[in-house]
Amino acid sequence: MTTNGSAELVIVANRLPVDRVTHDDGSSEWRVSPGGLVTALEPIMRANEGVWVGWPGGTDVDGEPFEHDGMTLVPIALSALEVERFYEGFSNATIWPLYHDLVAKPEFHREWWDSYVDVNRRFAERAAANAAENATVWVQDYQLQLVPQLLRELRPDLRIGFFLHIPFPPAELFQQLPWRRQILEGLLGADLVGFQLPGGAANFVRLVRQRVGHKTHRDLVYLPDNRTVRAEAFPISIDYEGFARLAKSASVQDRAASIRKQLGDPGTVFLGIDRLDYTKGIYSRLRAFSELLRDGELDVEDSVFVQVATPSRENVEEYRVLRDEIDRLVGHINGDYGRIGRPAISYLHSSYPREEMAALYRAADVMVVTPYRDGMNLVAKEYVACRYDENGALVLSEFAGAAAELRQAWQVNPYDLNGMKAALLAAATADPRDRQRRMRAMRRTVRQADVAAWAKAFLDELDEVRPPHGKKLKPTLTA
Ligand code: G6P
Repeated sequence: MTTNGSAELVIVANRLPVDRVTHDDGSSEWRVSPGGLVTALEPIMRANEGVWVGWPGGTDVDGEPFEHDGMTLVPIALSALEVERFYEGFSNATIWPLYHDLVAKPEFHREWWDSYVDVNRRFAERAAANAAENATVWVQDYQLQLVPQLLRELRPDLRIGFFLHIPFPPAELFQQLPWRRQILEGLLGADLVGFQLPGGAANFVRLVRQRVGHKTHRDLVYLPDNRTVRAEAFPISIDYEGFARLAKSASVQDRAASIRKQLGDPGTVFLGIDRLDYTKGIYSRLRAFSELLRDGELDVEDSVFVQVATPSRENVEEYRVLRDEIDRLVGHINGDYGRIGRPAISYLHSSYPREEMAALYRAADVMVVTPYRDGMNLVAKEYVACRYDENGALVLSEFAGAAAELRQAWQVNPYDLNGMKAALLAAATADPRDRQRRMRAMRRTVRQADVAAWAKAFLDELDEVRPPHGKKLKPTLTA
């Protein structure tokens, strides 16, 4: 099991960066999923014969590695019981709500935890089997918090990084977790633990001091075996140039124009694009919009709200409840305020490729991103990247990680309905010069800190914390 592999860089993430696409004739193929992570890592993966270990989704795919677009992908199959306990259960009904400020109530079940341990061990074993001597392994996100320590036990030679894409909660919430100490020790297997915001890193260090009893100083944890672990913020970003280029393409521009036309050429198009998740604040934002119609501040003849909700985690009870609630609310609002051919809300429960997203961003006057809690929120950054005309307004929750960088957005507290109504209206009616000034500043921010810079910053810091033995990772081929 611990015979070394040949990869100098191993990415370990719950999901592989590909989706299985089935064609009409029954044939199927793997297609790279549109995530930013793979875009950032692809060049450095190619340059270092990188391997990506992850779950391909479903329950029926066997674990044979395969090549895709110059990367080696190692699929880890989950059984139906593991999908239920490890993925839907512990990952998405325990950790997810707990780390998102208890927006929903987390459930604690011992058999879910046992499954989480088993699956994390399998991921660690597969990573260990693929990594070369002294290789770099970068573990991603909350589904795999035990992997760093399990991996270090198998392969002490490895340089291990971990990045948490979601918020890391304050001690007051985290300590509800019956397995809090095991999770902290799992993460401490890494040399560098990355968070979206400095607050998450500070929460982690404080908890390690209080709960595990290690000595800490600022962002460093001193372990008894003389190892040090650093906890630091690395705010993730997007492929800025990729989105900007796409937004300028003729096909996206045409599509954006036709979207506006199909909506009846309204004065103001509001847009929300989210996974259908209770952390995203979809319900409150639609209510705020409907109250503006009710109050006569907006007119359905001139304003429309397009809400795209991507299906997500549909077997988890809280997500089913949310779907019903949103369905009902949209029905209500359209019934009360819509006219023939003029629904107040154009609601799409579907997922779209990057091109269509870019066209929607181009078509929208006001982008509305109002999560109750969000690690970063890349939709906000994607919108900014697509507004090359420096027009368009962003309404952004203070509780999204992105709010720390996108200071010029119309920032809102999503729990404050009147505040949201005021912000929606202010964004929609702002002076064009004010909109432009804000958008220009936000575009500069995202351009300077894109996802390639994020990956580089993390890997450079890992070099600092644990200098590579001999070989350094080769920089990207394309750079
Ligand atoms: C969030 C998480 C990711 C996760 C994604 C989609 O962005 O941070 O780790 O992959 O949601 O969720 P899913 O459960 O479909 O993988």
